[in-house]
Amino acid sequence: MPEDRLNALAEKAKDLIRKAQDSERLEAVRVEFLGRKGEISQVSKQMGKLAGEERARIGKMLNTVKRGLEEALEARKREFESGLLEARLESEWLDLTLPAPGTRPGSLHPLTKIQAEIEDLFVSMGFSVQSGPEVETEYHNFDALNMPADHPARDMQDTFWLEGGNVLRTHTSPVQVRGMKRLGAPLRMIAPGRVFRNEEVDASHEHTFYQLEGMMIDRNVSIGNLVYFMKTLLSSIFHRDVTVRLRPGYFPFVEPGFELDIHCLICDGEGCPVCKQSGWVELLPCGLVHPNVLRMGGIDPEEWNGFAFGLGLTRLVMMRYGIDDIRLLQSGDLRFLTQF
Ligand code: FA5
Repeated sequence: MPEDRLNALAEKAKDLIRKAQDSERLEAVRVEFLGRKGEISQVSKQMGKLAGEERARIGKMLNTVKRGLEEALEARKREFESGLLEARLESEWLDLTLPAPGTRPGSLHPLTKIQAEIEDLFVSMGFSVQSGPEVETEYHNFDALNMPADHPARDMQDTFWLEGGNVLRTHTSPVQVRGMKRLGAPLRMIAPGRVFRNEEVDASHEHTFYQLEGMMIDRNVSIGNLVYFMKTLLSSIFHRDVTVRLRPGYFPFVEPGFELDIHCLICDGEGCPVCKQSGWVELLPCGLVHPNVLRMGGIDPEEWNGFAFGLGLTRLVMMRYGIDDIRLLQSGDLRFLTQF
């Protein structure tokens, strides 16, 4: 009997609609019963075989069952949608009365901090802060510092040569020359900056590091003046007595030249990778400016003389904060940087 079959199908379909847990399953039920090849459609196709009155009756019933199933599907679909909405409201819920999360302030890089401290100190003693290019001419990096082309001292620094004969400056000393030409004598200037050397990197050597150049030119400048400024610099940065030693050092642009070493503050002189087990760290080469350099800076060495120094700023920062590996400073590692 078509009626019984239709009733059974309607019951089965409604049961499956109730049990469907998601819209894909719901769609599968719709196709199974109302789709073109679905079970209800199969019944419709047999309508042609029925006689007049029965055909009308079954036709009517067929329409009622179809409409009933469509409504049931629609209702279940709405249930899903409202459920989804609830879930969304649940997951996107915001408590607007909560206090805002605290902002995380940035901090200055330790190099920037120490550089600023030294600049303030020297400015307070009448020095100006000068700068020069990182891509430097061979003339300023070497020749004007009393190191002509065939001078063996050029090999003291492993140089990155650029096309066209320029270099990545190997030290901040070329700014001495630019400063003398720009400002003349008397002169008190410092020049902090980044320098580059083609070096093996280890705990105390970087290929890219910072120096801070200093120069004072006046009448009758003595080694006593030089030592005074170096001591003032170190005690202002370390806020305590540090043991230093002065030994003769050779740099073609000073005469006499000195190496000022500092007792290693990482190991307290015991020996560590930073001081190469020696207990001392090379920090502050310095000396009285060579007359040839004054001349090349346009200053008369008969009238003026002066001192110059080339502080290893990166190493000073390591000593000040007890940083035992130079590579940390340019690592960009936030775990390191947020400590300052
Ligand atoms: C110079 O560069 C001279 N221009 C310094 C100078 C200036 C002498 C004025 C006299 C008068 P030196 O090559 O020694 O000198 O380097 C100076 C300082 O830079 C060293 O004492 C050290 O502290 C630091 N330094 C040198 N090489 C490296 C490196 N690879 N990584 C980190 N710091 C370095």
